[in-house]
Amino acid sequence: MLQPGDIIWLRGELGAGKTTLAQGIARGLGVNEPVLSPTFTLIREHRGRLPFFHADAYRLEGAEQAADLGLQDYFERGGVFAIEWAEHIADALPEERLDVLLEGGMDEHRRITLTAYGERYAQRLNQLEETLASAGFRDNG
Ligand SMILES: Nc1ncnc2c1ncn2[C@@H]1O[C@H](COP(=O)(O)OP(=O)(O)OP(=O)(O)O)[C@@H](O)[C@H]1O
Ligand SMILES: [Mg+2]
Repeated sequence: MLQPGDIIWLRGELGAGKTTLAQGIARGLGVNEPVLSPTFTLIREHRGRLPFFHADAYRLEGAEQAADLGLQDYFERGGVFAIEWAEHIADALPEERLDVLLEGGMDEHRRITLTAYGERYAQRLNQLEETLASAGFRDNG
């Protein structure tokens, strides 16, 4: 369901599964090269059905450091932009985004909470709920 220009915040503590989820998103976008953690490279770019930009702001603090990333260029390239530790550079990012919070991780069980910021993503969540419901999944909160 991802569309050109989508921005996803992957949130959760160290080891929550953000990079792993990014790998799943990449698979869904048809990327067929390895998706590695961008902790040191800050942004990695992959080619799929849409361009997939995978960023990690863990080592950044504040809008000034974020400016070095040239984020605006990425936002304008019609890809999907997924970022770990976005809260470190929140001031440099658009407010509208899909927020994905991962919790748990001591075993294979994880809770995923999706929050839409902006109408664009609210519609997408409705669409996702319908798809999940028709596939027999129940929304438990
Ligand atoms: N859904 C899952 N089921 C089972 N294991 C998982 C799942 N998601 C992640 N893991 C495992 O948890 C570990 C940490 O995952 P990952 O690197 O994706 O976390 P992260 O949130 O990106 O961490 P960081 O904050 O350091 O970037 C890895 O060993 C990974 O294989
Ligand atoms: Mg990671």
